[in-house]
Amino acid sequence: MEQSTIPGFRFVPRTGVIYVMHEAMRHGFSYDAPQWANLGQGSPETGPIPGAPPRIESLVIPASKQQYGPVAGNSDLRQAVADFYNTTFRRGKKSKYTRENVSIASGGRLALTRLASALGNINMGHFIPDYTAYEELLSVFKAFTSIPILLDGEAGYKIPAAALKKEILGRGLSALLASNPCNPTGQLVEEGELREWCGLARECQCSFIIDEFYSHYIYNTKPGAPRMVSAAAYVENVEKDPVIVVDGLTKNWRYPGWRISWTVGPKAVIEAIASAGSFLDGGANHPFQSIAAGLLDPQLAGQETAAIQKHFGETQADGHRRGCRAGGRVLHLGESFPAAEAIERRDEFLPRGAQGKGDYRARRVLRRESRQPAGARALRKLLPRQFRAGNEKARNGPRCPRTGHQKVPQIAAAALRARAAASSLLYAGIFYIKIHAWLRWKHALFFASSIPGS
Ligand SMILES: Cc1ncc(COP(=O)(O)O)c(C=O)c1O
Repeated sequence: MEQSTIPGFRFVPRTGVIYVMHEAMRHGFSYDAPQWANLGQGSPETGPIPGAPPRIESLVIPASKQQYGPVAGNSDLRQAVADFYNTTFRRGKKSKYTRENVSIASGGRLALTRLASALGNINMGHFIPDYTAYEELLSVFKAFTSIPILLDGEAGYKIPAAALKKEILGRGLSALLASNPCNPTGQLVEEGELREWCGLARECQCSFIIDEFYSHYIYNTKPGAPRMVSAAAYVENVEKDPVIVVDGLTKNWRYPGWRISWTVGPKAVIEAIASAGSFLDGGANHPFQSIAAGLLDPQLAGQETAAIQKHFGETQADGHRRGCRAGGRVLHLGESFPAAEAIERRDEFLPRGAQGKGDYRARRVLRRESRQPAGARALRKLLPRQFRAGNEKARNGPRCPRTGHQKVPQIAAAALRARAAASSLLYAGIFYIKIHAWLRWKHALFFASSIPGS
């Protein structure tokens, strides 16, 4: 593991996407090099695609929009987002979103950062595998403990609602973060299952933060019938249900460079993250917000979604086929080989042990678990709950630089044993002194009562 050479700074690991881009650039990739195609990351085609509304290519910026915007976002965009969710997902429902249920931020990661910085001293669950940025992003904040929940590759990285409930209750989760559809597994939670998830959030009083950045990329739809999925459809009361939806222009509208995202949820959450925005970032890109509001027109958004589903549905499979025919090459972790081999060799790219399980990060967690010596695991069970779950001391404590594994529970256990021994000694001492004093007093009484006339 590299160490920072600059005093005071820690080594900041590159998360998946950044690492891959860095490697590709080392091999000659650039955004305008025609011989390269990026098959790996969610960097959507930003140009025109058949059937989609025309792309926005120019913008006039009046002087008023050169100023700082409101930290929670322009009210026209906030209202447009609320209207989009009410029209698309909440028709016929009594409880509706208003602009006060919406906060705008500079892109998805910042929206999540604002949310993370507004969380209290709680346990926050997130799945492994899930979006690569989560693990690192969540580890930066010290107020809460992030708890990875390992999904089983053999079960298709799906977690039934009953198992999820057990995780929430068993690990004392007050919040859960998940992308839906999941990046990278593509798992989609929808309809009855998503309704159950929202019910769990209510029942277990666990805030579900649902990252819906890919919620328009659903390919098993009928042609011409765009399908979008949102947990907002299953929220009963927009102020009471602890369900928070995060989305933005990055993927579903194919404008990643605009850096516009939104968070939709109860007003209390929106106020908290707007306050966080006032010290974290100072508000989203101001000039682009009004034009973004126009993109949220439900009809335009539907047209864009239908085009995305048709175009990418066809080109994904086709792209790989064409790449193979054209003799294209795939770059994988620094190794370059013919595209035609990519499918056959897919499993081979994973570290041993993760093969057949499908995901590198799943393997990493398995390794972490097994690295913990059996004694340490047994000891953890003996620890008071707050140490097991990782309280303030545990969270701030050292981590193994290689595995990221928290060392503190063991340290905490040793400290606890020492404290228990010291307090036993102290109590024994106090007991001895008390007995001694009592005996002396009794003795004195005896002698006093035996003095004639006393
Ligand atoms: C699941 C998921 N959520 C959020 C984001 C973040 O989007 P942004 O680029 O707007 O920060 C991404 C980006 O790749 C993503 O894949």
